[in-house]
Amino acid sequence: MVSAERCLTAASAVALLCGVLGSPEQHARQLRMSIPGIPTIQTQTTGNHGNAGIGPKNQHCVLDPKLTPETLPFFIPDIRQAWGSLCGRNRGVFVTDPPDGHTYSCNDLPERWGPAANVNEVLNQTLVPANVAVETIENIVKSVYFTNPTKDAASCDFEGISTLLCGREDPWKRAPWYDTLKAPIRAVNIGGLFVLERWILPAFVDWGEPTGIIDQHSFSVKCGDLGICEDIKAHWKNFYTAQDFHDMKSMGLNSIRLPVGWWYFAKYANINSAPYIIPDEDLYSLDHPITRVLKWAHDAGLQVILDLHGAPGGQNGLDNSGLTSPDPNNLVWGEAWLYSPNHMGNTVKTLAAISQYINHIDDNHNLDNIMALELLNEPWAFLDIARVRDFYVSAIEAVRLVRPHLPVFIHDSFRGNAWPTLLKDFPYPDVFMDSHLYHGFNPSDAASDTPSMDRQKMYTHERMSCGYGSMLRYQTCSTVPVAVLEWSLAIDNCMPYLDPKKQDYGQCNHVAERLTDSWWTSHIRSFASRQIAVFEKEMGWSFWCWKLDEQAMKSDPSAAFWSFKLAVHKGYIDTRYPSDACMHPPAEDWAVPQVALPEPEEQPEEVPTVEDDKAEPIDMPDDHIEATSSGSETQEELEQPEGNGDDDDTEEQLVGLPPSEDASEDHVPRAATAGSSALLVAVAALILAAAALVYRKQRGGGSGGLAHFAPIADERSALNRGGSAAQEVA
Ligand SMILES: *[C@@H]1O[C@H](CO)[C@@H](O)[C@H](O)[C@H]1NC(C)=O
Repeated sequence: MVSAERCLTAASAVALLCGVLGSPEQHARQLRMSIPGIPTIQTQTTGNHGNAGIGPKNQHCVLDPKLTPETLPFFIPDIRQAWGSLCGRNRGVFVTDPPDGHTYSCNDLPERWGPAANVNEVLNQTLVPANVAVETIENIVKSVYFTNPTKDAASCDFEGISTLLCGREDPWKRAPWYDTLKAPIRAVNIGGLFVLERWILPAFVDWGEPTGIIDQHSFSVKCGDLGICEDIKAHWKNFYTAQDFHDMKSMGLNSIRLPVGWWYFAKYANINSAPYIIPDEDLYSLDHPITRVLKWAHDAGLQVILDLHGAPGGQNGLDNSGLTSPDPNNLVWGEAWLYSPNHMGNTVKTLAAISQYINHIDDNHNLDNIMALELLNEPWAFLDIARVRDFYVSAIEAVRLVRPHLPVFIHDSFRGNAWPTLLKDFPYPDVFMDSHLYHGFNPSDAASDTPSMDRQKMYTHERMSCGYGSMLRYQTCSTVPVAVLEWSLAIDNCMPYLDPKKQDYGQCNHVAERLTDSWWTSHIRSFASRQIAVFEKEMGWSFWCWKLDEQAMKSDPSAAFWSFKLAVHKGYIDTRYPSDACMHPPAEDWAVPQVALPEPEEQPEEVPTVEDDKAEPIDMPDDHIEATSSGSETQEELEQPEGNGDDDDTEEQLVGLPPSEDASEDHVPRAATAGSSALLVAVAALILAAAALVYRKQRGGGSGGLAHFAPIADERSALNRGGSAAQEVA
């Protein structure tokens, strides 16, 4: 499609926008303290303060439709799990919507809701008919949400039994590419092809010490002396072939995300690509390596999200930006990019040049399959996010001058929660958010070092996958519709050279055993389907990545968790992409049947102690706890999620078991030998509570007793804060 507005060249578009740029580099440091050296937002503000998202008044937290009187029995474990979270919020009390002149608690439900006076009675099917129980649970969810003073990603997060409605349900059906895809985005990342990453390509070069090559920048600098500069050109030609794209299509994929570096477009952005090695072919010729890939995708019937993965100066300090930061302090990573007006301007110019390239291949090569441009991958987690937003605004203006209707993705810079206010007065249509969601980079993700703990952890991740839906729903509702354009099947940090801060917790000794074990195959498959189902409620997903090099694929047991191609061959991915994977909780069959578990005394460090837990103050006055004895049970569950301590019988009561004096000492071994599903449920509760405690500890306990009410959101924020290395992928 040719538009008159497209006559502007990239260079003139950028000149228009970036006329204020080009001030001397030496001012970069001072700019920290002043207005960014990039254009400020030019919005058509008319006093009507709009927002890209739907305001909290038009967001409604309701019971997930999967919960009906018929399905209620399936979800009783989830509902019991949610009680702690539900009942403990808002200091244990709630008001109804609309208020009726009273306050209530989970032990003192409004009479008009039915016969149940408290939460235990709601699930007693002798006392309460299933339809009334479902209504009562929905009433509690709505009331607790209504009472909650903040409306953020955690507010409508109740262990997957709730969902947020805002009028943006199934947003993929309103995507600009809907007529082409007729489905959510189902994509893979073409990782390692145009931006080198050591872990994807262990055989590409003699990495590290011998050569000093750690990324594409150092390769480009050193390859001349080593006489290997041609290797990267061969890599561009050979790593992927047309067959890969046909294979993708045959697996039900409908698109790819193609990461590229700024240097490929430098010539057309009027900037110097040195020292990067660039292809011999002109960017505008059909046999340029990038264009060849786009044509392969096109011929296979795949759409493309073109993704600027590396910006001049490096936006995140990681190898996947093309330029690893030399600074060991990750708090400053990306600042060389953000605070350099030169780099900032050149990034905008690059994006304008990419847009012009998209026009060119559309007009001249009939390559019309670029569905969207992602402005920048993973601007670092500690960057001033308002400046990142300003950069996006400049970039959108530049891109749309060149190609007015080009859909755009912006990455959330690992801070999904921050964007509702950042996108206030955001006037641009067809902008979507990219939020990366990995399960393998926090210490709490990686903490298992025995086969049985591995399995328990797998179960937890299966549950978390469905729970993440509340966070993604919130982003779609409060900002712009979200896609997860990076995720994987790893639940631990075991891929060599993937994460520079990788620590050995003993978590990697059992990975290979999973590959030939049918328990693991079915649970990894469930894990994949659950993630996909949740992502497909928003805009869709892109797996990181399609493949690794042959050496990695053959020799590393973690490869199948990072290669979609391998994962499909292993049976980990159901390529029918079932939408109902979160309909039922995961199988609770993690107990290792051979009872080869150590006595609990031998592993006391695995059981969080009362002291650890009690060290944190709870956000509720003590007299309230004393005031209602049944209320104190709930509170104690919150205080002592692992259920140890003689006076804590909450877990047992909630799962309908008699109180046990020694629940904490025996929970794992007993469950391992008992066939009782009730016991397994109890163990699930204990494990999840213990997992929540880990998140809480990891966060330094700053949020007090409520911290573990929302482990999912906490987990995510831990990811986002970049103390972890979740963001260090791709
Ligand atoms: C359920 O309610 C009935 C009727 O009040 C009661 O007899 C029974 O003990 C309750 N069951 C449980 C498990 O609390």
